[in-house]
Amino acid sequence: MNINRSILTLDEFTIQQLRDFPQATGELSSLLRDIGLASKRVNVEVNKAGLVDILGDAGTINVQGEDVKKLDVYANNQFWGVLKHGISCAGIGSEEMDDFVIFDDAVSMNSKYVVLFDPLDGSGNIDVNVSIGTIFSVFRRVSPLGTPCTVEDFLQPGHKQVAAGYVIYGSSTMLVYATKRGVNGFTLDPSIGEFTLSHPNIQCPPTGKIYSVNHGNFFQYDLPVREYITACQKKNKSTGGPYTQRYIGSMVADVHRNLIKGGIFMYPGTTDKPAGKLRLMYECNPFAFIVEKAGGVATDGRQRILDIMPESLHQRTPLFIGSKLMMEELDSYRK
Ligand code: AHG
Ligand code: MN
Ligand code: MN
Repeated sequence: MNINRSILTLDEFTIQQLRDFPQATGELSSLLRDIGLASKRVNVEVNKAGLVDILGDAGTINVQGEDVKKLDVYANNQFWGVLKHGISCAGIGSEEMDDFVIFDDAVSMNSKYVVLFDPLDGSGNIDVNVSIGTIFSVFRRVSPLGTPCTVEDFLQPGHKQVAAGYVIYGSSTMLVYATKRGVNGFTLDPSIGEFTLSHPNIQCPPTGKIYSVNHGNFFQYDLPVREYITACQKKNKSTGGPYTQRYIGSMVADVHRNLIKGGIFMYPGTTDKPAGKLRLMYECNPFAFIVEKAGGVATDGRQRILDIMPESLHQRTPLFIGSKLMMEELDSYRK
């Protein structure tokens, strides 16, 4: 079989895009290549998860107080290892690690970027063969090159992200990333082991027919959210309701679907957990950046996610994210 040279690999695409910036040093392309590499390794394990003893609990509890699944640990270590040995990353923060990690070798200390990630999102779905993912967020460090990175490099508001993306391990494996130039999706071609451009210039439809929320928590949401959800279930000429409810329980899969098809995803605060469940730095910021770059909107119910000034690495926030017009409609219930 001949390889079709009209395809663009992740690497080729990124280099081509960044070439237009005279000040670009190629470090960001190299970083995205490293993330692609780590995700291919995770993909291999995800695909054979039913065959080997990597399913199930690792027997420990992470800093968030949740059970750690073995594949969480594996994925965390792959991203950690690949980024540490790459040439573009000065340090990492991960949902699975108590504190950020400084890469203190000479090459890493001279690197421009720090990366925050949720190595395995939707880990409750690992054992049951449902799509899971990885989410990542890239900031340019604010500490001087040549020194160890510091907590200030990580605790930057989301609008300072240089790039953000996710990998979805689903019916096919895809990597989607956003920079200020837009959002592009790459599908892994397993026959050549390369992510190839399949979804150029992704735009989130301004409206859609899908709403995604955990209905089990309905009575714990505040009144405007309950009213909006109820409206989603009603016949409505102006919005095209009733909408369809879709909730996988892997944010990557839920938001990916809504990004492509149009829709709204919500993880509101509850009476028990006013800040909700999702983590600002590993889940909400990267998705807010991606969805905004695709024309959508992301808020915590009051303010733009990307404007939240983070106070700690593991902080949580309510999240409402999706198609612009649906988000405006939700907003009208708050007012
Ligand atoms: P993680 O597996 O990284 O802990 O994240 C799971 C998250 C998110 O992916 C999903 O949308 C949400 O948890 C589901 O939570 P509920 O089961 O409470 O709805
Ligand atoms: Mn997650
Ligand atoms: Mn996770």
